[in-house]
Parts: sequence; structure tokens; C-alpha cells
Amino acid sequence: MRMYDIIMKKRNGGELSDEEIRYFIEGYTKGEIPDYQVSSLMMAIYFQKMTARETLTLTLAMADSGEKLDLSAVNGIKVDKHSTGGVGDKTSLALTPIVASLGVPVAKMSGRGLGHTGGTIDKLESFPGFSTAISNDTFIKNVNEIGIAIMGQTADLAPADKKLYALRDVTATVDNMSLIASSIMSKKLAAGADSIVLDVKTGSGAFMKTEEDSFALAREMVEIGRNAGRKMSAIISNMDQPLGYAVGNALEVIEAIDTLKGKGPADFTELVYALGAEMLVNGGKAKDRQEATDMISEVISSGKALDKLAEFVKAQGGDPEYVYNTDLFELGKIVVEVKAPKAGYISHIDCDEIGICSLMLGGGRETKESVIDLSVGIRLLHKVGEHVDEGDILGTFYANDNEKCNAAIERFLRAYHIDEDCVPYPNMVIGII
Ligand code: URA
Repeated sequence: MRMYDIIMKKRNGGELSDEEIRYFIEGYTKGEIPDYQVSSLMMAIYFQKMTARETLTLTLAMADSGEKLDLSAVNGIKVDKHSTGGVGDKTSLALTPIVASLGVPVAKMSGRGLGHTGGTIDKLESFPGFSTAISNDTFIKNVNEIGIAIMGQTADLAPADKKLYALRDVTATVDNMSLIASSIMSKKLAAGADSIVLDVKTGSGAFMKTEEDSFALAREMVEIGRNAGRKMSAIISNMDQPLGYAVGNALEVIEAIDTLKGKGPADFTELVYALGAEMLVNGGKAKDRQEATDMISEVISSGKALDKLAEFVKAQGGDPEYVYNTDLFELGKIVVEVKAPKAGYISHIDCDEIGICSLMLGGGRETKESVIDLSVGIRLLHKVGEHVDEGDILGTFYANDNEKCNAAIERFLRAYHIDEDCVPYPNMVIGII
């Protein structure tokens, strides 16, 4: 088999065989096929697309390219959740203790974030002492005894995807549906869960800007997962404005805790319930969404979900007191209230721009090596559809550097659009597959 022939076949619109796909993935992972040939193939795929069968084979080949997490020692049906990412997305922090307190084991390998704010691990490190550097044995023991464990990405999961994604990133071949779906699903399949619940974001702060593309991506990933023998669901959710009110690591943890106390923002709470219901049904703990919703309400009002978070934080070295008293979290020392320049209805918030403001304060990583300031961020006070008077506070900034804070505020004010006409509140959950 020759890479040249594979590139030419795809360039001419042909369908690659399973053997050809596995040949190029294995060869590329081992370093036997050079970047220039694979980038050329990526460009051919970008224009000629892939069939569902090709996409499935590509996903499985990438999932098979490295280690796989063996969760067979974890009792029960393991349900994983994946979000395509967005601004203020702290969903895992609230969702995992909820489902764990209802008997769905959470055995999660998470990463650090690049961009707006940190990833789940960065956010969890807002609890002093919390560590994800735990052994495999402790990981499995904690899941079986407590119901949740989160480990840093130590295993070499889907190394073919790591190489391919880096190459696509610099060759303008990221935004192809089959390549995105196979990239995400290869890592999820290698992470070993029996069921995967996807949160596919749509809107100005999402990877997929239109509902049509978001539904298509969700359908493609669900199809791959089902063909690989996993139970799948996907929620298509709004990312046209930040999720909830908090953007920034410690601030987002506080908001997730408030949600577990039943005092979370309406949009974020709705999403947590929707994803939680899918996880409980897929995990065999609820017969339908209605029963699952009632179960979630119960563990929130009884405090069981909050206690589960405290138990999990303690088991991984963190101080559980912070769960019960969020005033303990350290926040930026410079606190600035940003006021509305005029009266009217908030018609639009440039979602990505709010994420960039948090990044400018030091809350996100510009490069993999950047050190994150967990204490900085923005707490929004008003969102799309709400009316404000001139001088009302739009958001509170928590910063540690005056210059960075002023630059971020300037950008923040440009991201808020205030108009005379009333606009409806956007829907949070746009679809379920
Ligand atoms: N996230 C991924 O992991 N892969 C992609 O291709 C795009 C987003």
C-alpha cells in the first residue's frame, strides 16, 4: 500500500477502504508517514468529505492507536459526558456529583484548558490541596466507594488524534464534520465508558455557529458511538451568550456549588437537569426523563448532591469546607463594577469576547505553558432579553492587575449590545438526540 495512492484516491472523490484508513493512521502514529503527506490527505478529506463508514473506521483506528482506559473494575454502567466547549461552561462540576449521588459511577479523565478559562481540572484546583495526580488503584477505589474520581490525562489516549489535531490546526483543516466527530469520539471511546452523553454547543461562542451544523455534528457523533456499541445521547445547547453568570475558574466553581444548593442561574440549571436526565436514563437509574428530573430535584433539595461534591473533593486532597462556605474561595483583589452606558434591552452578547476578557485578566491559557490565575474572572449581572437602566451594573470584574483589568473592561463594553427593542430570552436546550 502507498500513501500516494491513498491521497490520490481521496483527491479524486473515492471512498477509502478500512485497510487504507488503518494503514495511514498506524503509519502516521509510528512516524513512518510524513506530515506533508498526511496534511495533503486532510485537505483532500476536507473537500471530498468522508462517508459514515469511513468516519467510523477513522474513529476506531484513532481510538486503537494508543492506550485505552480499562474501567472493567468499576461497578455499574459507566456514563461519560463530553461538551464541545464554550464560555462559562462549568457543567461537569455540578453534574458529576448529582449523578454520582444517584448511583451512576463517574470515572473521568479530564484535561486542562487552553483558551478562555481553564478546564475541569484547573477549576477543581480552586479547592486548596485538590489533586488529580492519583494512582490508577486509588482512581478505581474512589469510584467504587464514593462514586466519583477525576484523574489527569496520564494515559496516552488516542495519540493519532493528538498528532492529527495539531496538524489540522496549522493546515486549515479543522472544520470538517467527519474530522471533528472522529477526533472527539476517538478520545471518548478510548476513555472506556459504556455510555456517552454529548453536549454540543451552538452559537457565537461555540465551535459550531449554526444550529444546522451543530445538529449534524451531534448526529454524526451519536452514530459513531452507537456503531461502536455505546449507548449515546446528545443535547444541543445554546452558546450564543456565556453559560450562567460566572466566567473564570473560582467564580465558576462557586456558581456550580450554588446550583447544587438549588440557587443556580436558570439557564445553567436547565442544562444540568437535561444532561443529568440523559445520564440517569442511560445509566439505568431512571426509566424516563421525568423520573430522572424528579430524582435530580430530590438530591439537590436534600443536600445529597452537595455532600457528594464535598466527599469527592476531600477524597482527592481538597478542603471540603469550601463547598459549604464559598466565601473561602480566593477572588481577585481588584473589584470593579462595570456599568451600562445607556438604558435598553440587552439584544446580544458577543460570547467569545467575554471569554477573551477572562483570558486577558489571566484566567485562561494563551499557551500550554501559561500559568492560570484561578481567582480572576467576571460575574455577569444581566444577560440577553433583560432590560437595564443607564448606570446599572452589567458585570463585576475580579482582577489582580489594573492594566489588564482596564483593557478587559473596554473589550467587555464592546461585547454588550443594548437596543431599544425588547428581545426574547433565548432557549437553553435547543434539541435532544
Ligand atoms: N475538539 C476536538 O477534540 N477535536 C476537533 O477536531 C475539534 C474539537
